[in-house]
Amino acid sequence: MRITVYTLFPHLIEAWRSEALVGRAVARGLLHLEARDLRRFAGNRTGRVDDAPYGGGAGMVIRVDVAAAAIAEARADDPEPDEVALLSPAGAPLTQAVVEELATRRHLVLLCGRYEGFDARAEALVDREVSIGDFVLMGGELAALCVVEATARLLPGVLGDADSHRQDSFTTGLLDYPEYTRPLEHEGAGVPDVLRSGHHAEVAKWRRREALRRTLERRPDLLERAPLDDDDRRWLEELSAGRDVDL
Ligand code: ADE
Repeated sequence: MRITVYTLFPHLIEAWRSEALVGRAVARGLLHLEARDLRRFAGNRTGRVDDAPYGGGAGMVIRVDVAAAAIAEARADDPEPDEVALLSPAGAPLTQAVVEELATRRHLVLLCGRYEGFDARAEALVDREVSIGDFVLMGGELAALCVVEATARLLPGVLGDADSHRQDSFTTGLLDYPEYTRPLEHEGAGVPDVLRSGHHAEVAKWRRREALRRTLERRPDLLERAPLDDDDRRWLEELSAGRDVDL
């Protein structure tokens, strides 16, 4: 997969390219990640890409012609991008379903704003706008890196174990079950016995139930959309009724 990020701060993206699992995916040729400087499209010697907003008010707005020139370059590129996305707090929420869709793209182009964002006319030039949450960052770079990380880990061969993202939070529609490793005891806190029992079916049942418990406690909104069977529903009823049984 290829991801091209247009930004005023290419070094922020480049830092991600050489470290950790994204760095390994790049080194192994599974991901081609490139950062390109938006200032190349400034059209002036100062490299200024922004201007004052019409109507007045604080902050500066990135010019639409700068966005248009970047997108034109990306679209003229070989291979032509499958998708051009703008990072913005006004975009559609980035969910695991969106990530799974983006991870099928051959070439993804991400446009990062700064200051007060892009001139609104840039919205018509992109395929989608993406937000990573209901908060305002100082620019789109961290949001773009969230897209890079979340999509890269779905690419075949990027994670060590091909199955390791199958049971992730959100892939199952639920939060993840709790995980434990050595030491067996830490300052009085132990590990649930069932995890050391060697009974795979019991472990799987416990994990499913704990995933349901966590989701009910922390993100009950997810339960409305999660695929649940009769056992799940019965367990959730027990939990809701306060008849919580510690397994
Ligand atoms: N730019 C600034 N805030 C953002 C957010 N929450 N998501 C995506 N891009 C942003």
